[in-house]
Amino acid sequence: MSKIGLFYASSTGNTEDVAKTIAANMSGAEIVLHNVADCVNDAMEEYQYIIIGVSTWGEGELQDDWEDFFQNISETDFSDKIVALFGLGDQEEYCDNFLDAMGTIYNEVIVKGATVVGSWSVDGYNYEESTAIRDGEFVGLALDEDNQSELTNERIVKWIEEISPYFIK
Ligand SMILES: Cc1cc2nc3c(=O)[nH]c(=O)nc-3n(C[C@H](O)[C@H](O)[C@H](O)COP(=O)(O)O)c2cc1C
Repeated sequence: MSKIGLFYASSTGNTEDVAKTIAANMSGAEIVLHNVADCVNDAMEEYQYIIIGVSTWGEGELQDDWEDFFQNISETDFSDKIVALFGLGDQEEYCDNFLDAMGTIYNEVIVKGATVVGSWSVDGYNYEESTAIRDGEFVGLALDEDNQSELTNERIVKWIEEISPYFIK
């Protein structure tokens, strides 16, 4: 059974709730939840399979705990790691920076050699700008608890189906 490290941080609890929902719904793998606020520096090293959850704050900034932990991504070799990302944001209030923090993490893990899976269609969202888009798709699961919370569970279930073949070995 594969072991997946799910790394997240959360200011108001939204990303934490999603992290727990993913862990509860992804069968066939052992998922170990890590709030990066409590992580030691090299916590990601031991995992080949990694899921990262990040919310965007400020105007397109990383959530605070991710800001503090970010350097550890830069110091980790991801070249043998499979990574999937999910991001939380607010497409109405922050339509010019929707999910930018997910784009920031994506850029860094790609530079460090990660294979990133689990891109997500932009259909069904209403925003102006996002740095979390590559080749016309979000680089990971896009969630908006502020405006579309009723869609969150079905989005999570569909995304888990899409990423499971890469993670369940
Ligand atoms: C002050 C403030 C700034 C925010 N800035 C952004 C932003 O730039 N882009 C975005 O997509 N969402 C933004 N959001 C929305 C949060 O990312 C969203 O509420 C998220 O669900 C919070 O998740 P968390 O509680 O797990 O940190 C902001 C929210 C607040 C209150």
